[in-house]
Parts: sequence; C-alpha cells; structure tokens
Amino acid sequence: MSTPAPRQPLNDVVTRFWSFAAPAYDAGFLQRWVYRPAQDELIAALRSRHPARVADIACGTGILADRIERELSPESVYGVDMSEGMLNEARERSPRVQWLTGPAEQLPFDDGALDAVVTSSAFHFFNQPAAVREFYRVLAPGGIAAVTAMSPRLPDPIKQLSGIAWNPAKQPTPREMSTLFTDAGFTVAEQHRVARPAWTLVVSDLITVGVKN
Ligand SMILES: C[S@@+](CC[C@H](N)C(=O)[O-])C[C@H]1O[C@@H](n2cnc3c(N)ncnc32)[C@H](O)[C@@H]1O
Repeated sequence: MSTPAPRQPLNDVVTRFWSFAAPAYDAGFLQRWVYRPAQDELIAALRSRHPARVADIACGTGILADRIERELSPESVYGVDMSEGMLNEARERSPRVQWLTGPAEQLPFDDGALDAVVTSSAFHFFNQPAAVREFYRVLAPGGIAAVTAMSPRLPDPIKQLSGIAWNPAKQPTPREMSTLFTDAGFTVAEQHRVARPAWTLVVSDLITVGVKN
C-alpha cells in the first residue's frame, strides 16, 4: 500500500474548528447566500450525467449529500468528512446516506469504486494535488469529479509584480484548477463561475468538472 499523502499544515485544527462550529452551520442565511449556490451547481452537474455511486467529500453537516440522495436517487450516496462534530449532524439528517470519516487525501474507497465525486466549499482546506489524484483513483472509467472552489476573478497583484506565487489560501485560478485536474489524469469537461446573486459576487467561486477517461 502506498504512503498516504500529507494533509495541509494545520488541517487537524481546521477540522476540529468545524466540529465546534457544526451546531451553527445550518443557519438559514449562511446556507442560502454562501453554500447553496455552489451545491446547486454540483446537483446540476450530476443530474445531467446520472452517476450510480456518488460521494460528497468534506460533506460537513450533510446538506448536499442528503439533497443528492433525495433529488437524484442514485444507487448509493456517501458523505465523507474529517470532523466528527459535522458528521454527527449529518447522521441526524439522513439514515440513507452512508457517512464515513476520512480525509480527502486518503479516501475510504477502493480503486474505481465510485461514479462521481463532488466537493463544495472545502477545496481550499485540502492538499489539492493529493486530493484530486485521490478523486481520480476512486473513480471508475467514465466517472466524474466536480469541484467548487474559491478562485480569484482578478490576477494576484503580488504574483504579477514579483513573479512569486503567494497563495496561502489555496485559491487556484481557473487555469491552475484545470492543471490540477489534467495532472491527475482527468479531461476537463466543464468550467465556469458559480452563479450567485449580484450582491454576493464577492464570493468568487468556480466549478470544474473532470472526466476520468
Ligand atoms: C465549510 S465546510 C463545507 C461543508 C459542505 N461541503 C458544504 O458545502 O456545506 C468545510 C468542511 O471541510 C471539512 N474538511 C476540511 N479539511 C478536510 C480534509 N482534509 N478532508 C476531509 N474533510 C475536510 C471540514 O471538517 C468541514 O466539515
């Protein structure tokens, strides 16, 4: 068995924070304005492709995985997260989704076990190259990975002036996102901005869909 890829520095602290924040996470305004638009895009990407076995990685309190199960009725739906506090909320939400503990960088699935992997509003927490490689590993041929991620609309001025990529928040540009996918073996099938109401355009995220050939 190969050595697991390292997670981001401080990722344990991040996931412990989310355990602590879990009870407040489902607040209506937060979900409606921040998280729901990205989840809507992922549902649309899945709806047009009809995958049978789907996993939501970094599923949090399970809102998206539960929607996938209820709205698309695939054969099986999994929700995976590193935060037990978030997973406890998720378990309360649905007994039909299978909730699993695990990091995005070392998923609890065999090679080729899934037809779709999605993740929303969490990619900035991952070791991104390792996570995208892991998505590729667990997908069957023809499977898709659909990722929504924070992504700047304007070029980074520090990078422009100095040539140095200072990007601690790990917000890839559209081109960097495509490179992460193609380096892992995917063909990029779709990429566009997440549609948001005008006043929330400040949250600038991107959906990228890759297909395993
Ligand atoms: C902002 S929440 C997003 C939850 C959900 N995807 C949504 O759209 O509502 C971020 C989640 O990422 C999880 N997370 C952070 N790093 C992770 C990692 N390396 N592997 C798995 N989950 C991780 C946290 O525990 C937390 O539940």
